[in-house]
Amino acid sequence: MKKMNAAVLGVGQMGATHVQAALESPYIDKVYGFEPDPARCKSRCEELKILPASLESILADPSVGFVSIASPNETHVELAEKCMRAGKAVLMEKPMGCSLGEARHMCEVEKETGAFLQVGFELHYSQMYTRLRQWIDAGLIGTPVNDQCRYYCCEFHKKNTWRSLSTGSFLIGEKLSHYLDLQRWYFDAVPESVYSLSSAKVVPYFHHRDNHQIMTRYPDGRVAVLNFIMYIAESHLARDPLQNGKKEVDDGHFLQFHICGTKGAVEADVFKHRMRRWEFSDTPEYMDSKIVEEITFDPKKDGLLYYHNVLGQNLHVIELAATGKKPEMSAVDALNTMKLCFAAELSEDTGEIIRFDDPRLG
Ligand SMILES: NC(=O)c1ccc[n+]([C@@H]2O[C@H](COP(=O)([O-])OP(=O)(O)OC[C@H]3O[C@@H](n4cnc5c(N)ncnc54)[C@H](O)[C@@H]3O)[C@@H](O)[C@H]2O)c1
Repeated sequence: MKKMNAAVLGVGQMGATHVQAALESPYIDKVYGFEPDPARCKSRCEELKILPASLESILADPSVGFVSIASPNETHVELAEKCMRAGKAVLMEKPMGCSLGEARHMCEVEKETGAFLQVGFELHYSQMYTRLRQWIDAGLIGTPVNDQCRYYCCEFHKKNTWRSLSTGSFLIGEKLSHYLDLQRWYFDAVPESVYSLSSAKVVPYFHHRDNHQIMTRYPDGRVAVLNFIMYIAESHLARDPLQNGKKEVDDGHFLQFHICGTKGAVEADVFKHRMRRWEFSDTPEYMDSKIVEEITFDPKKDGLLYYHNVLGQNLHVIELAATGKKPEMSAVDALNTMKLCFAAELSEDTGEIIRFDDPRLG
């Protein structure tokens, strides 16, 4: 097997997972890390047991065939373009850009250079969310018509960090892009229109909105709703509700998908580590609904594979790039998710229902 070297640009929290995948991949030999501040670059690379490097040396080195971008959002596009133009395969963290223009530019550069580009929508690799898709594809709920996602958390990002200081509807692209992307994936269709509302924010030091109620209309009258608020849940990042099962399950966290179809419904309840499936039937007196399948995940055994499977995604994407295959999620597909995010932002800014073909979305 021919091995290549890899580089991770931005070796903060998420970068560490990208590093882990590169170190574990049988297709990768050396792993380089880049941070703009040389002192931080050296210390983080020491911690992560990889080699510090400058951006210029990474770009100029033909042995570096694969680059992960895990730096702050506003740096993604410039770095991804440089890497694609230098002939690297690129896995870039979401969002694909801080504006729709930037996201479109990524598609143009990908097309022009013929480079491998995949955006990190790793929920496509989670055991839970892929099982939902399999249930839908198998026709077990009939035609999916209504997709409800409720996400309550308490991710009080720290004061004066790039996340807290970002403005506008930042969290839609930064965080909710994953869930809008899943809704699009489950309906397997291009949205028709979007309407989104955001109430006055509660977290005083955020420069951006902290809640979003996003309604998307899909063809044939199908509807997806995403309801996101911060603040209620009691446990927070330091006591990760996903890892620490018991108490936090019911302390205010909700991350649930309910997808209703014409023949049944499915549920993914992340904090309860549980999935369920209902079947509808007809009785002489009423329509009946029965739970016919239930799956639970043990976070101690399954780690995060059932949910945010970044490691699994990265190992797989490295293999695709190393073996000359195409990205599993195309850049155009990722662009459609970004378009949905920016349509929701535009709706919040203007108070209008935004059609997907609105000229303001370009
Ligand atoms: N897919 C997911 O579920 C998921 C989860 C968390 C974060 N992310 C994404 O990963 C990215 C990083 O988030 P994070 O939580 O690791 O943030 P972080 O602040 O922990 O890490 C970002 C790192 O990038 C470095 N950096 C700053 N400017 C840079 C530049 N120009 N070039 C290279 N590195 C630079 C910073 O010094 C820092 O070490 C963000 O885009 C975020 O949206 C994705």
